[in-house]
Amino acid sequence: MQKTKPLMNPFPVNSYQGSSYFCDREKETKGMLSLLMNGNSVTLMAIRRMGKTGLIHHCLSQLPKNWKGIYIDILETENLNAFLNILATSIANALPQRSSPGKKFWNFLKSLRPVIGFDQLNGSLQVSFDLKKQEVESNINNILTFLDSQDFQTVIAIDEFQQILNYPEKSTDAWLRSRIQQLKNTVFIFSGSQQHLMSDLFLSPSRPFFRSSQLMKLGKIDHDTYLDFILGQFKRYQKKISVEVIREILSWTNTHTYYVQQVCNRVFANTADEVTEAQLKETLYNLLREQEHVFFAFRNLLTNPQWQLLKAIAREGKVFQPTSRKFMETNNLGSSPLVMRSLTSLIQYELVYRDTDEDGKSFLSVYDVFLQRWVGGK
Ligand SMILES: Nc1ncnc2c1ncn2[C@@H]1O[C@H](COP(=O)(O)OP(=O)(O)OP(=O)(O)O)[C@@H](O)[C@H]1O
Ligand SMILES: [Mg+2]
Repeated sequence: MQKTKPLMNPFPVNSYQGSSYFCDREKETKGMLSLLMNGNSVTLMAIRRMGKTGLIHHCLSQLPKNWKGIYIDILETENLNAFLNILATSIANALPQRSSPGKKFWNFLKSLRPVIGFDQLNGSLQVSFDLKKQEVESNINNILTFLDSQDFQTVIAIDEFQQILNYPEKSTDAWLRSRIQQLKNTVFIFSGSQQHLMSDLFLSPSRPFFRSSQLMKLGKIDHDTYLDFILGQFKRYQKKISVEVIREILSWTNTHTYYVQQVCNRVFANTADEVTEAQLKETLYNLLREQEHVFFAFRNLLTNPQWQLLKAIAREGKVFQPTSRKFMETNNLGSSPLVMRSLTSLIQYELVYRDTDEDGKSFLSVYDVFLQRWVGGK
């Protein structure tokens, strides 16, 4: 995965680009690898854009030699057949045809009669099947059993796992859970960006995946560690940035990984040698301007009380008691039933999320930092 040619910009914003562009997560990486290598599957939970996908790639790239990591993102799959296609494709690409396990897998795969083609864009292999439901299930089962019987151990990471809830096939989770339980040399990472669905899948006792794996909650990267990392990345590329400017970036972005990366990427791109305070301000202004049309659309979607509540949460950053008299009066929010109703909608629209702080106290925040900064300034 590690690229040999250095990236033009040391703050990638789309995908994992290897450990030199990856900040910290040492404890989490160690913790996850240890769980996996001791036979435990892991469910990774975090609010959006915190770095779940990045952490999965980081961990898979550090597996020991006798382990194989398979990563699939099932967001775009709409049924179990598409799941099978993505799984087979990913394994085919992870096991080079010339290697001994690769040869075995290919012979096995061909016996399942897939259609094999190439991705037009990047030249990687595409494996697909067009089958009836029972055949799909038995093929997934065959592939998993095949992997499990090899002389290596396998980690299969399924990202955007909550998507299986949208499959038309009934109780996919029950079926998958029962298959997975039979495997001896294969463990899983389940991750997903829709927290309420992930919680529903893994935390409710009535669901098949309840207690099927170890839960790992991913929090923010430590402030000072991120600061040192950003300083180091600028230095590596012979550009200067002051500690004060970095502090400002971290505070403006609430140290939320994706937003830190976005702002750093832009600031880095806009700087020839040394980042100035004025450049940072301009970059932040432009970043918000670019998204303004989306924010206006949100505003049109919301009722006035919902909009006022969003604004109030944005200004405060973290709100612990949305129906406290002080919060409601300062922000002119009306009655508490009205606030609660508006809040339910904002959470449903994924504009606001509920989380717990280090002391276990529940709070509310605006999901998208850019939206928070834009709305908070209005
Ligand atoms: N530790 C890290 N150091 C540097 N960049 C990171 C780190 N973790 C993630 N990133 C980058 O931050 C961005 C967001 O991370 P990522 O996509 O992993 O988040 P996510 O939690 O999977 O988000 P979503 O919930 O939307 O799927 C990506 O561009 C990723 O490369
Ligand atoms: Mg992700």
